[in-house]
Amino acid sequence: MQNLIKDLDILIPEKESCEVVKVSEDTNTGKNRKLYIESYGCQMNFSDSEIVSSIMTQEGFDTTSDFNLADVIFVNTCSIREKAEETVRHRLMHFKGLKKRKPDLMVGVLGCMAERLKHQLLEEEKIVDLVAGPDAYRDLPNLVRQVDDGSRAINTFLSREETYADISPVRLNSNGITAFISIMRGCDNMCSFCVVPFTRGRERSRDPHSIIAEARDLFDKGYREVTLLGQNVDSYKWSPNPELKGKAQIEKAGDADIVNFSMLLERVAQVHPELRIRFSTSHPKDITDDVLYTMKKYDNICKNIHLPAQSGNSRVLDLMNRTYTREWYIDRVDAIRRILGTDCGITTDMIAGFCTETEEEHQETLSLMDYVRYDFAFMFYYSERPGTPAAKKLKDDVPLEVKKRRLQEIIEKQSLLSLERNKHDIGKVYRVLIEGYSKRSKEHLQGRNSANKVIIFPAGNLKPGAYVDVYVKECTPATLFGEVVL
Ligand code: SAH
Ligand code: SF4
Ligand code: F3S
Repeated sequence: MQNLIKDLDILIPEKESCEVVKVSEDTNTGKNRKLYIESYGCQMNFSDSEIVSSIMTQEGFDTTSDFNLADVIFVNTCSIREKAEETVRHRLMHFKGLKKRKPDLMVGVLGCMAERLKHQLLEEEKIVDLVAGPDAYRDLPNLVRQVDDGSRAINTFLSREETYADISPVRLNSNGITAFISIMRGCDNMCSFCVVPFTRGRERSRDPHSIIAEARDLFDKGYREVTLLGQNVDSYKWSPNPELKGKAQIEKAGDADIVNFSMLLERVAQVHPELRIRFSTSHPKDITDDVLYTMKKYDNICKNIHLPAQSGNSRVLDLMNRTYTREWYIDRVDAIRRILGTDCGITTDMIAGFCTETEEEHQETLSLMDYVRYDFAFMFYYSERPGTPAAKKLKDDVPLEVKKRRLQEIIEKQSLLSLERNKHDIGKVYRVLIEGYSKRSKEHLQGRNSANKVIIFPAGNLKPGAYVDVYVKECTPATLFGEVVL
């Protein structure tokens, strides 16, 4: 066991980070053109690439995992921090170089950076042929034709209604067991540091029938876990009134007509007891006890909540326009512990060195972490984004070295907490959904427990897709190791 721990990569759950890249895989159905898609950013972006693949395969494209074989290259981009955009720019310059050798190659930029920069990448910098924002993917076949006809093409229109509800995504990089379902798009919160409301537009919820149909279809195809995605899932709301669209539906609907997040969660949980449900992201201002009780009621709703705090200090939270205080956040954590117990995983996002943050305020972030005892955290230092409320109104005055030092302290704190939380699991038995073979060893399988902890164990005769009970024997800060209990 000791050797195994040393030999295995530390597994870090993926979410958004510009280092995370996903590329399309090979489909060979004899279509005459090939599309390569590379995706950066959050799960919503990866999920969008699956919608794009679906739209393009209807239009005579196969997908490829090798950009050298592609007729069309799409880069689905992220703008969340400056570094994310820099990574994408390098990549786009590389593809621009490729076009010199292959003049017919079409390069398109999709996603949040396309939305933010609009004509800039097309005209001023002439890096790409095509620009499509997150709500313009239905128009891609038309945009591709415009480029085929010799012009450059752009659509960055943001919609109040588009949810791509009727498009059945082509699953990319799939293990055939876990999948993402987008339940809403956009964001109406104006967190002052955040570019998302500008790149993804207004919040809108997807028709629950299409969500449940997608979950059922995935289960029938052998999938055993779905993650419901939205920037703020707790504000999911949908009303069936066919005459009204988008938010107007909600404003005019009676309470009885409205499907809220806890109702949606319950309906998806009822698809099948063997289908696990996860969701992300919960907003501390909106998460209700109702949602927590629904989680408690269904064994197949996983006991893990991603509840980004961003900071542990109320003044900084106010400047961030998060609309909750440290006390409010603590009250929500207490409610989770009260209703779902200490085994429920709680994870967070933290930003170090936001505008005017003092040393004492930074200490409050560390003390909040101590209070909550997070299982895992995504941790960043503040990166000013052009056009955001913070960029317009606040001074980015914490020096870079200070931001980096504070971030390092947050990372070190989290590493200790993750180890402590994982040690607390030693000696326990957890139900694990097997997702595949461990990255380093074909003799070991890996899966996750309800609290989203990665667990590695000897494979025996077991296969991915099955549920097993695993006794936890050892751990690192990122991974549990155990053996199957028969
Ligand atoms: N909707 C989610 C967050 C989506 S963005 C929520 O409200 O929690 C993912 C994370 O990126 C954020 O939670 C935040 O921690 C981080 N982030 C966003 N903008 C940032 C910026 N300008 N600088 C540094 N980190 C940022
Ligand atoms: Fe950004 Fe805030 Fe919306 Fe999350 S809730 S996407 S941090 S504006
Ligand atoms: Fe990035 Fe856009 Fe997601 S900015 S984090 S890809 S919503």
